[in-house]
Amino acid sequence: MTKTTGKREILIVGNSDELSHRAAQEFVRLADEAIRTKGFFTVALSGGSTPRGLYLQLASDAYRELVSWPHVHLFWGDERCVPPDHPESNYRMACEALINRVSIPKENIYRIPAEQEDRARAAMEYGQALKSFFRLNAGAFPRFDLILLGMGDDGHTASLFPFTTALDETGSLVLAHYVEKLGAYRFTLSVPTINQTREAMFLISGASKAPVLREVLEGDYQPQRLPAQIIQPVNGRLLFIVDREAAGKLRQTGV
Ligand code: 6PG
Repeated sequence: MTKTTGKREILIVGNSDELSHRAAQEFVRLADEAIRTKGFFTVALSGGSTPRGLYLQLASDAYRELVSWPHVHLFWGDERCVPPDHPESNYRMACEALINRVSIPKENIYRIPAEQEDRARAAMEYGQALKSFFRLNAGAFPRFDLILLGMGDDGHTASLFPFTTALDETGSLVLAHYVEKLGAYRFTLSVPTINQTREAMFLISGASKAPVLREVLEGDYQPQRLPAQIIQPVNGRLLFIVDREAAGKLRQTGV
């Protein structure tokens, strides 16, 4: 079932496996369109468990050959402050589930240097890498073809956590910040960077997300408490692919 409100589309699917398939089909469609029209496709990957199912599908016989991987450029929407081989690394998860299984040139992989002690410098370096890849003028933000996003049961997305200063950062493309709730530093694309994307695709699965998804989609606008609400592409598509369990408390879709 698909529901469109304004520029926001909500696609409700049966379960997490179906979610991964629909997300893979959307990824293939967007990649094909971008490569046909401009010769390359830029996507910022999300961490967490939900997108891992998508990455495994993209690397499977069902989808792998449908994407022209040499024309795909991979970035990250956020990263934990750990080395690339750390079990918590979003980069490592993407390598194991996707990158090591498809023919994407290593020069097309733009990893956040999250192991660096000087986190502010690492964030600046990543921002510089975006500026040069996207050939940005001063003050401009990159326009990704696709930014993949998950959502925590506290309403966070990427590493934009509730009541953190990251939510108000508008001058940088990328930032590193200490997340009290986690007792850890995180890297994240900033809100203006994410909101420049051609398409933001949320992948949300499981009953634990149902209460907060209802608040995010149907409740009052409270971006400090529900950062996922801040994601509103300025000139792009906002797509939520959610499974029936996560959609279980939505009123307006009659699930
Ligand atoms: C991360 C993610 C984070 C994730 C949510 C949802 O680095 O963990 O970027 O924002 O998307 O926590 O995670 P799940 O999909 O595992 O529920």
